[in-house]
Amino acid sequence: MSLDLASQKPHDRLAAALADDLSAVNTLIRARMASEHAPRIPEVTAHLVEAGGKRLRPMLTLASANMCGYDGPYHVHLAATVEFIHTATLLHDDVVDESEQRRGRPTANLLWDNQSSVLVGDYLFARAFQLMVETGSLRVLDILSNAAATIAEGEVLQLSAARDLATDEGIYLKIVRGKTAALFSAAMEVGGVIAGQPDDLVQALYDYGDALGIAFQIMDDLLDYGGTDATGKNIGDDFRERKLTLPVIKAIAAASDEERAFWVRTIEKGDQRDGDLDEALALLARHGAMEAARADALGWIGKAKTALQQLPESPLRGMLADLADYVVARIN
Ligand code: IPE
Ligand code: IPE
Ligand code: MG
Ligand code: MG
Repeated sequence: MSLDLASQKPHDRLAAALADDLSAVNTLIRARMASEHAPRIPEVTAHLVEAGGKRLRPMLTLASANMCGYDGPYHVHLAATVEFIHTATLLHDDVVDESEQRRGRPTANLLWDNQSSVLVGDYLFARAFQLMVETGSLRVLDILSNAAATIAEGEVLQLSAARDLATDEGIYLKIVRGKTAALFSAAMEVGGVIAGQPDDLVQALYDYGDALGIAFQIMDDLLDYGGTDATGKNIGDDFRERKLTLPVIKAIAAASDEERAFWVRTIEKGDQRDGDLDEALALLARHGAMEAARADALGWIGKAKTALQQLPESPLRGMLADLADYVVARIN
């Protein structure tokens, strides 16, 4: 892709606007992912961190702090904290999901083993907590530790909802709010809190992150069925893992008896055969389930942009609005 085109992506424009801060975040991440005592740690973390990742969540924190006029040093710590929490959850998530590809590379659980992924994930969580303590703000600690607990709750809730055809859109929303949106909202919130903003403004930052995170996960779940190699992840993981994601929930709600029998066999009983993923895709298409899920994501994007309007006009605010649009148009 030409530089010209790339620079038109909201995500890249945000990265360009925050370039100095973002590079300080990356330096801090590199410094803190090291370990003098266990060489396996930098091997695993370097593998993941050098592969990149979109750095969406740290950019949210940096943008939020900047928009709120923060001029101290700790937004960089907070952005690194948020990315460490994210990276730790990815290490654990790939073990739980038995995933084999992440950020276009083999997962750590595949290259090393589950033990390494779980323990290095724990290490990153601990490093994240050290970083946030350095800010000296108890409120920030409260927000981020709550977010870490909520993410874990969302992942555990998903465990019990998987394979259960009774999982409905309400339960799905609870899961994605927990496992994904909690970190988006916290990332936004802490930027305002560190800048000493009043509660109503911090609430608006939270609301933007919450709605953006929900839309982001709905899109991730769509990409798991309809995406390309650009995701850097395996397509069809969710079907294989028998997760009840939004498009499947919608297709099951509209299923004929015969179609329901297919979902019972593949998702509830886990008896999956060659060609079943294609059949699942055909059923999703028959009921317009992908389009309906995308429409829901668009609804959340509307909410995200409404929340932004409570913040003062600024170039960064415009970029966050564009980022919201990009989240539902993204292919990776
Ligand atoms: C992946 O998040 C986990 C989800 C919440 C779906 P990202 O798609 O932001 O992951 P990276 O950091 O860019 O790899
Ligand atoms: C999001 O769920 C994972 C976390 C928020 C930890 P997924 O399981 O859908 O994420 P991917 O698709 O593996 O990135
Ligand atoms: Mg996963
Ligand atoms: Mg996914």
